[in-house]
Amino acid sequence: MNTLLLYDTPEDIATAADLIRRGELVAFPTETVYGLGADACNADAVRSVFAAKGRPADNPLIVHIADIRQLEDIAAEVPPIARRLAEAFWPGPLTMVLPKLPHIPDVTSGGLDTVGIRMPQHPMARALIRAAGCPIAAPSANRSGRPSPTTAKHVMDDMDGRIAAVLEGGLCEGGVESTVICFDDAETAHILRPGLISAEDLAPYCGAVRIDPAVYERLAPDAKAASPGMKYKHYAPKAKITPVEAPSFAAFSDYVQAHAGDGVYCLLYGSDPDVPGIPCVRYGDSGREQAHYLFLRFRELDEAGASQVYVRIPRQDGASLSVYNRLMRAAGFEVISL
Ligand code: TXA
Ligand code: MG
Repeated sequence: MNTLLLYDTPEDIATAADLIRRGELVAFPTETVYGLGADACNADAVRSVFAAKGRPADNPLIVHIADIRQLEDIAAEVPPIARRLAEAFWPGPLTMVLPKLPHIPDVTSGGLDTVGIRMPQHPMARALIRAAGCPIAAPSANRSGRPSPTTAKHVMDDMDGRIAAVLEGGLCEGGVESTVICFDDAETAHILRPGLISAEDLAPYCGAVRIDPAVYERLAPDAKAASPGMKYKHYAPKAKITPVEAPSFAAFSDYVQAHAGDGVYCLLYGSDPDVPGIPCVRYGDSGREQAHYLFLRFRELDEAGASQVYVRIPRQDGASLSVYNRLMRAAGFEVISL
């Protein structure tokens, strides 16, 4: 298959929408990462998303809408808390897991009776969903296990020849995937995957916000995952990622220098000084900046031939928690504590 590269023109959006309606796969930019889109109600099209990604069939897809009114066409029930959050944060990087209507195919929801729904903010994503005239199921457009793509080139690196088209939308602003929540009861939002909309952001609209323990630590082998995505190793570059918890930058620097060697790199805060003798890459100081650069740096480290990357650990509050979570998952939750 020859994968078309399409641009932000009315003709190209119409071409992309037509491909989606015909059951083909089109990758498109969102404000978080690139998604791999298919008509959410076409079971065959959705099956080919799983095949193109190499994704386990029990890991459900997020259904993307362009208008808040489409929520009723997908969810069997929309509790008041969900409506409040949709009004506050949509369009934007928030996915809500709600009971699904029967016409949403089981393959889309990974066999669950719930479905993740999100209304993205990126103008090209919204134009595509509107033009296609159907909700679009879209996981991140990487091969399963790889870092999520934040440029059209990353999508091509993973998907060229496997999908019909990619819409070119430049570098994604957010950089990490949306916050995924479900509801434990009428007033409690439960964060299954942290994103740029933080627990602190959600709190004013909820009675309580609970962060799933699997955000911080590896799921026990016999534990039931609240979200199937928690079970799988994710976001990893080819290099081994080792977060280093150090009492000071000097301690971090000494540790890394003692482990210098071929293919050894470090990933630092934006304002950190160099580690003498080690190639250094930086991913920013604030949570938002680190989120924007994390997956980009992972892919650059792969291209540079890194085999071992020592990383300065992000904070765990606000938007930083999303970066902490992706980093820990890339590292299989193994940390060096000095
Ligand atoms: O920002 C994003 O969310 C991007 C863009 C393209 O929108 N999409 C994305 O999709 O990250 P994906 O498939 O890579 O991640 C979806 C996550 C998975 O961890 C999945 O297990 C969880 O959401 N999820 C989806 N539906 C669910 C459900 N019904 N119950 C529990 N977890 C669900
Ligand atoms: Mg993904």
